[in-house]
Amino acid sequence: MSKAGTLDLASGLGGKIEKNDVLSAVEKYEKYHVHYGGEQEERKANYTDMVNKYYDLVTSFYEYGWGESFHFAPRWKGESLRESIKRHEHFLALQLGLRPGHKVLDVGCGIGGPLREIARFSSTSVTGLNNNEYQISRGKVLNHVAGVDETCDFVKADFMNMPFPENNFDAVYAIEATCHAPDAVGCYKEIYRVLKPGQCFAAYEWCMTDSFDPNNQGHQKIKAGIEIGDGLPDIRSTRQCLEALKLAGFEVIWEKDLAVGSPLPWYMPLDKSHFSLSSFRLTAIGRFITKNMVMALEYVGLAPKGSQRVQSFLEQAAESLVDGGRKEIFTPMYFFLARKPHSNSR
Ligand SMILES: C[S@@+](CC[C@H](N)C(=O)[O-])C[C@H]1O[C@@H](n2cnc3c(N)ncnc32)[C@H](O)[C@@H]1O
Repeated sequence: MSKAGTLDLASGLGGKIEKNDVLSAVEKYEKYHVHYGGEQEERKANYTDMVNKYYDLVTSFYEYGWGESFHFAPRWKGESLRESIKRHEHFLALQLGLRPGHKVLDVGCGIGGPLREIARFSSTSVTGLNNNEYQISRGKVLNHVAGVDETCDFVKADFMNMPFPENNFDAVYAIEATCHAPDAVGCYKEIYRVLKPGQCFAAYEWCMTDSFDPNNQGHQKIKAGIEIGDGLPDIRSTRQCLEALKLAGFEVIWEKDLAVGSPLPWYMPLDKSHFSLSSFRLTAIGRFITKNMVMALEYVGLAPKGSQRVQSFLEQAAESLVDGGRKEIFTPMYFFLARKPHSNSR
């Protein structure tokens, strides 16, 4: 269970958006999406505004329900959600061969849950790159509490245009973040640029799988539900991501959809038929309680107007994610390990 309480949820709602402007921010955010007549090109052209609005609106809900790491994980029987999340982070560190002293970049780092875990697990210094100011302010507080503020830091910038010199990092990873990029090749090229030659980039990407049929209305509805519920311009296919890596200059060492073969499904915590005391807030009853609590907090003025609307598009996200997972048309864990070759004329 997350450590954030009800008052943390209420006070963080809206992030850096003025409390009186939260409702209009929700309306503007919704208009970017298909369900409200929005177009993919507009979402891509305005990705900074769309994604930042999304994370200002949802971060305190994420922290309340999910904890400090905002990602899914494959899961073994007998493993708690929290344990599976940490193991998924350790897996990246092992794949990247992180060693004490390495200078590592976390692309799209959220409030830094994975960054703190990976830095402690591997004795490395991790820089978290994030374009959302509110998340960085939360991350700095949590880094201080965890005692990693001397070795880890945050940089506020867009991963499409990073403020780092080339050949700067010993390793780069991205966890469920580069799916927000309007263009995968552009984003991977930036990662390639800042990585030292011979070193690796590993990621978990959100993707549509080969089972997704673009001509199937039901599939398209699920995809649009995930896009609005999760602040995405357009969910790419696994093949598009793989192609984009190669176009950016990477040599792909191995790749796999880790959802395939997971003993327990990654979407289980959000599945309404599942009950768990340790992740109670994500269960159907937990979400029902949160919904009513947010309604009450909004009514008495402790949460800004528009908070219930945020809760409701997150609910839609949860349902679409479970549907996408069950039908195996969507994965949040398309893993790849890619190397920047030593000699390359790019
Ligand atoms: C689903 S969250 C994952 C956060 C983190 N990796 C984790 O697992 O806890 C996606 C993150 O990507 C960040 N992000 C999205 N677009 C970005 C951009 N253009 N530049 C930098 N960060 C971005 C968001 O602000 C958010 O922190």
